Amino acid sequence: MKTQIRKIELANRYLNDKYHLNARQKFVEEIGKTPLRTDIINFLLGQFTSPTVYLEIGVRNPNDNFNKISSQEKYSVDPGYENAENSVDFKVTSDEFFEMLKNGTALNDSIKFDVIFIDGSHFAEQVEKDIQNSLNYLKEDGFIVMHDCNPPTEFHASENYDYNLSPASTLWNGTTWKAFVKNRKRDDIYSCCIDTDWGIGIISKKMNFGSSNKIENNFFEYHTFEKYRQESLNLISFDTFKSFFIC
Ligand SMILES: C[S@@+](CC[C@H](N)C(=O)[O-])C[C@H]1O[C@@H](n2cnc3c(N)ncnc32)[C@H](O)[C@@H]1O
Repeated sequence: MKTQIRKIELANRYLNDKYHLNARQKFVEEIGKTPLRTDIINFLLGQFTSPTVYLEIGVRNPNDNFNKISSQEKYSVDPGYENAENSVDFKVTSDEFFEMLKNGTALNDSIKFDVIFIDGSHFAEQVEKDIQNSLNYLKEDGFIVMHDCNPPTEFHASENYDYNLSPASTLWNGTTWKAFVKNRKRDDIYSCCIDTDWGIGIISKKMNFGSSNKIENNFFEYHTFEKYRQESLNLISFDTFKSFFIC
């Protein structure tokens, strides 16, 4: 009985903890944000005057995003870790897909994409590879779009996909932010992050969205990221983002 009461006391302490409550609040705020990734991808595809080619890395349920994308040509890649049905074009990992592109066993080796949506593995090391491979197959005026670049709390940015007993519950952004923030250090590409839908990272070879990331965070500490979130991500609203397209 005593142990039971102690357990209930501990559970209540967790539920009323200020740090956890604050995290829940940020979580709720993030969920309410619009537009969604789909709207942003369709906005970008709508900027091209010629027929577009779209690639999505990591699809899960195509009805959530892929099927809503308006592009003359579109391709999907997913090994099917989270969806047994997995009705994608290429049932392989992103690494395997890019290898197939390189050796000419998928599509054709001269194909370039207008928009590539990176939303596969959410671990920084793999995301970093996905960014580099995508840059190699992106048209000069194309865009890389990345989901989950702006985790609202460190609970969402956990390295543990399976642990749900936190204020993040089952919603998880992983460590994608680290790969995005690292690539924002580069001066040969431009990038920004739209403050909606868990952070929509945008990378362009051509369109200048502002300066690269000057924040020193060599060990990718979450608390430093939190403190300098704005500059680390070049975090902007969708309205500001759209203003880059007004001639
Ligand atoms: C978050 S879901 C994608 C959601 C979808 N893009 C959307 O907007 O609704 C992540 C997907 O990435 C896939 N995935 C995981 N590792 C991958 C990898 N190395 N290459 C490609 N896809 C991967 C998983 O199987 C899962 O279906």
